[in-house]
Amino acid sequence: MSTVRIAPSILTADFGRLAEQVRDAEAGGADLFHLDVMDGLFVPPITFGGQVVAAVRAATRQPVEVHMMVAKPAEHFEELSAAGGGRLIFHWEAIGAEDGPEGVNALIQQVRALGCEVGIAINPETPAEAILPVLASLDEVVVMLIRPGWGGQPMMPAHLEKVRTLREHIDGRRLPVMLEVDGGVKAHNALECVTAGADTLVAGSAVYNPGQTPQEAIAELRAALG
Ligand code: DX5
Ligand code: ZN
Repeated sequence: MSTVRIAPSILTADFGRLAEQVRDAEAGGADLFHLDVMDGLFVPPITFGGQVVAAVRAATRQPVEVHMMVAKPAEHFEELSAAGGGRLIFHWEAIGAEDGPEGVNALIQQVRALGCEVGIAINPETPAEAILPVLASLDEVVVMLIRPGWGGQPMMPAHLEKVRTLREHIDGRRLPVMLEVDGGVKAHNALECVTAGADTLVAGSAVYNPGQTPQEAIAELRAALG
């Protein structure tokens, strides 16, 4: 399982020494960084925008993806792309529920026009089938295993069923789409996520927590994957 990518989310990092926290995770083997932008509308909390994305971009050589938990993603594509977000992930629920696959396709094109990769995240209430019409146009699908908005929540393993479904479609159609899980990933359930079909694991509080350094935490995750 050495090909599994570990994507630290900085949500529970120490923002007073953010660059150091990012460098520690990179030194520990982080494959990319997952930055959670929240607007206080799509989800209750407000986190950060382009300035923090740029700070992380400057602190690491690894890829940076932006998980946009925002109600109007298209209004933020330019800023987040300019800040260094190499892959922009927006939520199906922000667009697809109302505008359908055509609306989603328009957004996918907007992201690509900025030279970024594109991902779509689905919330716990959204079935995997919702995104099948646009699956082939994506670089990444993100299955939320928690209600979005907060780090440190326990995973809801029932939603791994969607990961299995999406893995079947991705492999069956030989699509070059990454399959990421987000929420509650820890050493004790990381292998379960990978067995279900995930190839990329977001790890927030598993990496940034008071009990371990990011290097120790990532080593523990890797060991759990065997
Ligand atoms: C929450 C975010 C997650 C969060 C994960 O809405 O999308 O990326 O940081 O944190 P953990 O890994 O602690 O569940
Ligand atoms: Zn996230």
